Amino acid sequence: MERLDKILTGTGRWSRREVKELVKAGRVRVNGAAARSPEEKYDREGLDLRVDGETISGARFVYLMLHKPAGLVSATEDPRQKTVLELLPPHLRRVGLFPAGRLDRDTEGLLLLTNDGALAHDLLSPKKHVDKTYFVRVDGALDEADCAAFASGMTLGDGLECLPAGLERLEAPDEGIVTLREGKYHQIKRMLAARGKPVVYLKRLTMGPLTLDPTLEKGAWRPLTGEERAALEACRSLRRPG
Ligand code: URA
Repeated sequence: MERLDKILTGTGRWSRREVKELVKAGRVRVNGAAARSPEEKYDREGLDLRVDGETISGARFVYLMLHKPAGLVSATEDPRQKTVLELLPPHLRRVGLFPAGRLDRDTEGLLLLTNDGALAHDLLSPKKHVDKTYFVRVDGALDEADCAAFASGMTLGDGLECLPAGLERLEAPDEGIVTLREGKYHQIKRMLAARGKPVVYLKRLTMGPLTLDPTLEKGAWRPLTGEERAALEACRSLRRPG
């Protein structure tokens, strides 16, 4: 059981003072009746909570796994282009979700959408050493020198310094698996362009303990399972050297 004001401020949309005003003005309804006090306690599970008629998710945080298709931007809003949030139903577009770790417009694969800013920060921090892996296809053939360059930490022509990264060659000479622990702008494309092997296709497969669910079609999403959430929690508390 949790206080109504805690549940509502937890959405990040209102301060405690604003919640008090909203309740006082009769704008908050809980399970069909006007809320009487911001201090009243409720069970988040199955809570029907509305402010000015808009349903507010009682869940503390929301975590969704999305199979991002090409052609959408990893942003919450964009004046010109379709965003990944547009793949979600309206009630999930109103709970402050954002992509934890962007993918380029033409990149496909695993995207975590959450409104848990602290978790997103931890997953993306290079210090936390949370690896992300990508399937890549290039124009050219990957070789051992490319793998060695990735492993030693590349400095690109524009001065961008990359941490050591993994590049594993696959059977097809133009295909590989890249492992990054950071996520600089267009990083894989820039690293491989610097090797003279431009990326023609890129798909994120994993992010820390999360693996793209093979049953998710492109454009489909699902909430993380309890196990996946627990695995994320466990990995965010690790701070490994290197
Ligand atoms: N590296 C890129 O170049 N693009 C992505 O979308 C992700 C990693």
